[in-house]
Parts: sequence; structure tokens; C-alpha cells
Amino acid sequence: MNSFTLGLDNFELSLDRTKLWDTLHEHRAIVSITIVVLLALYRLLFVYTQDEREPKLIKPRIPLIGHAINVYRFGSRHFVGIAKKCGLPIYLLPVPGGRIAIVTTPELLSHVDKQPKAIAFAPIAALVIDKLSGLSKAGSKTVLDRTMGPDKMDGYMNAVMVDIHATLAPGPKLEAVTTQVAYNLNDSMAELHGETTRMNLLYWFRHVFGMSSTNGIYGPENPFKDPKVEAGFWAFDDNISDLLITPKASLTCPTGDSGRANAWAGFAKYFENSGHLKGSELVKIRHRHAAERGCSDLDIGKLEVTMIIGILTNTVPTIFWATYYVYRDADLLASLREEISKIATLAKKADGSRIWTIKNVDLKNSAPLLTATINETFRHRTCGISSRFVTETTTLKDQYLLKKGTIMELPNNVIHSNPEYWGPTVNEFNPKRFLADPRSAEAKAARGAFRPFGGGASLCAGRHQAMSQMLGGLALFIMGNDCTPVHNRGEWKFPGAHGHTIAAAVDLPSTDLWLDVSPRKGYEADFWVLNPEARE
Ligand code: HEM
Ligand SMILES: *[C@@H]1O[C@H](CO)[C@@H](O)[C@H](O)[C@H]1NC(C)=O
Ligand SMILES: *[C@@H]1O[C@H](CO)[C@@H](O)[C@H](O)[C@H]1NC(C)=O
Ligand SMILES: *[C@@H]1O[C@H](CO)[C@@H](O)[C@H](O)[C@H]1NC(C)=O
Repeated sequence: MNSFTLGLDNFELSLDRTKLWDTLHEHRAIVSITIVVLLALYRLLFVYTQDEREPKLIKPRIPLIGHAINVYRFGSRHFVGIAKKCGLPIYLLPVPGGRIAIVTTPELLSHVDKQPKAIAFAPIAALVIDKLSGLSKAGSKTVLDRTMGPDKMDGYMNAVMVDIHATLAPGPKLEAVTTQVAYNLNDSMAELHGETTRMNLLYWFRHVFGMSSTNGIYGPENPFKDPKVEAGFWAFDDNISDLLITPKASLTCPTGDSGRANAWAGFAKYFENSGHLKGSELVKIRHRHAAERGCSDLDIGKLEVTMIIGILTNTVPTIFWATYYVYRDADLLASLREEISKIATLAKKADGSRIWTIKNVDLKNSAPLLTATINETFRHRTCGISSRFVTETTTLKDQYLLKKGTIMELPNNVIHSNPEYWGPTVNEFNPKRFLADPRSAEAKAARGAFRPFGGGASLCAGRHQAMSQMLGGLALFIMGNDCTPVHNRGEWKFPGAHGHTIAAAVDLPSTDLWLDVSPRKGYEADFWVLNPEARE
């Protein structure tokens, strides 16, 4: 009796301690069967349904949602990691609700560019725009209507895109915008004259570029002149990733949600008062395409606020990074100043002050180091993913089967960071990299591997405006100012970069740079201004 009780007590004790293991052990047969069945199901779903001609499927460690979580956390950095590990030109990732095809080589990207109909941008862009803009039911229907198919050119997205490209192509319509931008840049730089200004660099350029771009595009009634609209827009921009994925924005990102509501209100009033009639051709055609399809002033205003993401969210961090890369390298700063001074013309005013005028056209055509510096900035700091939607089953390069409904991502920084195209110095900032002779081995290796503005039919429509503003802004800033970081004993410490703003093509710094910006030594009394006239 005694020994029996004792034995039972011992058993209960051990069951307490290792209950789980014993239970599993006892049911080991059923446990293993379950695991095998789950694995088989998983393979069935994602491997055996796969056609041999499809690109290779890369399975995440956490089934299904693993990739989605990582894309949210790391943005396109996640694709860089996988691309480096698997070394494939194209691969598929399973995500909830479908698969994403990732393309990683310039050669295959050029094939994607050749099939804008089967591998289209508009259907994806429409979904993103609709989600961010919080449109009325009718407005939403307009944006999502006929984004693909035979009569897609009648749908809002494709129709408006044709005219966006036309109004932003080189010519008088674009010049009207770049001229206003240049005048605004003159004014902003003049505000720094004669004194030392302590500033947050990113914050400062947000305002300077934000105001100059929107004045150029929206004209004298520009809603951004209301600080509530301007601040609202940037709160919206800061919260984009969350606004895109969460169903109830007012709960999950209240700052961005109420910010965009302020911006919407300003733009709705602008269209109600026909402010766009005094604005650029760009805003006029955007208004016309939406109004023709019955959109309300409020919906048109909302669509405009989302458009400004495209206009500002990349130029501002790019000028930030370019400024950082130039000032941390005294030799580069000196070389750029020398290059620009050669194209600047000097005029003396009656009061003895000197005005240096730089023509926008000369910056574009006769300042190769400046352009190369901006290009190298792009190469280092683009995080952007171009997205495509496979609208009909197609074979890429006669080799890779892509099924209708597949989403395709083209992460530009995968090619921008691959030593195969950029050589062993891929991770170094070399402002002269883009000055290499086009016939040199380096230039040949990098051919097609530089895509800051995407490519193909949906190549960035705003690239001319963006380059003009960045060249002008950077030139005026470095000619007129010296700057020193307030912290780190004046050292230019890398501020950290993160690329996980889903909508952005360029990294944001993790922390802003806190700088003392003072008049350039030896040129304290001088002014530097842009002359935007296109003609000689
Ligand atoms: C540094 C500045 C900029 C960068 C890095 C940039 C980058 C890009 C990228 C990567 C794309 C996608 C291309 C593709 O999917 O193949 C794009 C598209 C576009 N961008 Fe930009 N962008 C910039 C500035 C601007 C500006 C200032 C505007 C307007 C004034 C603009 C308007 C557009 C438009 C309308 C599209 C869609 C084109 C289409 O689908 O046909 N962008 N941009
Ligand atoms: C710079 O802009 C100001 C006004 O903002 C303008 O008066 C001036 O003419 C511009 N400079 C040149 C050279 O165009
Ligand atoms: C939204 O943006 C604000 C800054 O404007 C930031 O403090 C906040 O963390 C962001 N919220 C989310 C959910 O991203
Ligand atoms: C900079 O890049 C653009 C493409 O975005 C290219 O057309 C241009 O030739 C490059 N220029 C220099 C000097 O690197």
C-alpha cells in the first residue's frame, strides 16, 4: 500500500514538471502525423501548385505572414537581403492573399519595361491612391474604374497620367513651374544672408522645397500658404505606411489622419474658389480629368494632397542627403564651388554688394560634378520599390511564367547596391563615379543599373522638375553658406537612414541634422541667385 502511494505521488510530481513533454510523447504518433500533414499542405499550397516555368518561390520562416511583416518593418531592405542570399534574377514570395514577384537584375527589368500592358503600374497606383485619399464612394469608383483592359485609356488613372507626363515634359508648361520654383529658392536663400541660422536641415528643406514646389504648381492661391495645410500634409506624409495598412486610421494614426483632413480642407476650398485657374497646367489638367468624371471639389482636393506625396516625399530627403554628402567632404565642396563659380556671372550693385547669377540651363548642362554628386546621392539613398500588377498571364523573357494577378516589385536599391554593377567600391560615396567615360568598363558594367526614377512607361514624370529644383537648391546653398553640425564637435556624423516609408523612393534620415548655417567665408556680402530663363 505504502509503496504504491509513494509511486503515485512521484508520478504526479513528474507529470507536473514535464507534463507537456509527456503528453506530446504519449501522442507522438498523432503529433508527427499532424506536422507532416501541415508541411505537406504548406508545400502543396506553395510548391506543388507552382508551375515549373514560374520563378522560384522563396518560403519565409514564419509561413505566409513572415514576408509581409518584414516588408512592413524593413521596406525594400527585406528584398535586398533575400536577393543577396538567393542570387536569382527573379523570385516569388508568398504573402497573404497571393504572391509577389521580385525582379533584381537590370537585364530582366528591361524586359519588364517592354511589357507595360501585361505588367502595369496603374492598377497598383490606383489602389494606393484610393487607400490614402479617403475618397467618397463615387470618387473611389472613379479612381478604380478601368485601370486595365482594352478601354483603360478612358479610365481616370491612365487618362490623367498621359497629361501629367505631357505637362511635366521639357517645354513652356514645365518652365512656368521651374521658373516659380527658382524665384522662391532665390528668396529662401536670401533669408539666410548676413547672419548665422541654426536649423534642422531636413525640416528647413521641407519648408523651402515644400513652398517652392507648391507655389510653382498651385499658383498664387496655393493652399500650402496656410501653415495648417502645410503641417497637416507633413503629418500625413510621416504616417503614410500606417495609413496604408490600417483599416481605421483615426484610431491607429490620429496625427496623420487629422493632418490630412486639414490639408484636404485647404485644397477643397482652393478648388471651390477655382484657385487652380491661376495655377500650373499640371493642376488644371488634373482638375479637368477628375471634374469631367463627376468628382466633387472635396475629392479633387483629396487626390491633390496625395499627389503632393509624389511631388515632395522624394525631393526633400534627396536634397538633405546631397547637402550632407557635400559638406562632410571639404574637397568635394571646394570642387563644386569652383565648378559653379565658372558658370556664375557677376554684377556689382551701386551699394557695392555683389550678385552672382547662375542660369538653370547651365546647372543642367555645364555642371557635371554637381549632377554626378546628386546621382551618387540617389544611388546610395534610394529605397524605392516600383510596383506592377500582372494584368494578363505572360512569359517574361520567354522564360519566366507570370500568372495574372501576381504583384511585381522592382526594388531599385537591390541593383544600386550590387557590386556586380558598381564594383568593389559599391558602398563608398564617390561623387566622380558618374563622370566615368561611358565607354569605360565601369560605366558599361553599370549600364541599366541606375534607376532612381524607375523605368519604362511609368518612369517618373516629375524627374525634370525634381532635378531642376535639386540642382538649383544645392548650388545656391553651397555657394552662399558654410555649415557646421552643432553636435559631435562639428563632425558630420551619419544620421542613420531608414527606408521603410512604403510610398517613398528615397531614405529618410533617422535623425535630423542640427546645423549652424553661416554666410560663406570671404563672400559674406554676396548674393547668389538663379536665373530660370530657358533661353540665352
Ligand atoms: C527626387 C525626386 C523623385 C524621385 C526619386 C522619384 C521617383 C519615382 C519613382 C521611382 C517612380 C516610379 C516609376 C516606376 O514605377 O517605374 C515615380 C513615378 C512618378 N513620379 Fe516621381 N520621383 C521624384 C519626384 C517627382 C516629382 C517632383 C513629381 C511631380 C512633380 C513626380 C511625379 C511622378 C509621377 C506622376 C509618377 C508616375 C508616373 C507614371 O506612372 O506614369 N515625381 N517617381
Ligand atoms: C530671384 O528671385 C527674385 C524674386 O523672388 C527676383 O526678383 C529675381 O529677379 C530673381 N533673380 C533672377 C536673376 O532672376
Ligand atoms: C505619425 O506621425 C507622427 C509625427 O508627425 C509620429 O510622431 C507618429 O509616431 C506617427 N504615427 C504612426 C502610427 O506612424
Ligand atoms: C545622372 O543620371 C541621369 C539619370 O537619372 C542621367 O541621365 C545623367 O546622364 C546622369 N548624369 C551624370 C553626370 O551622372
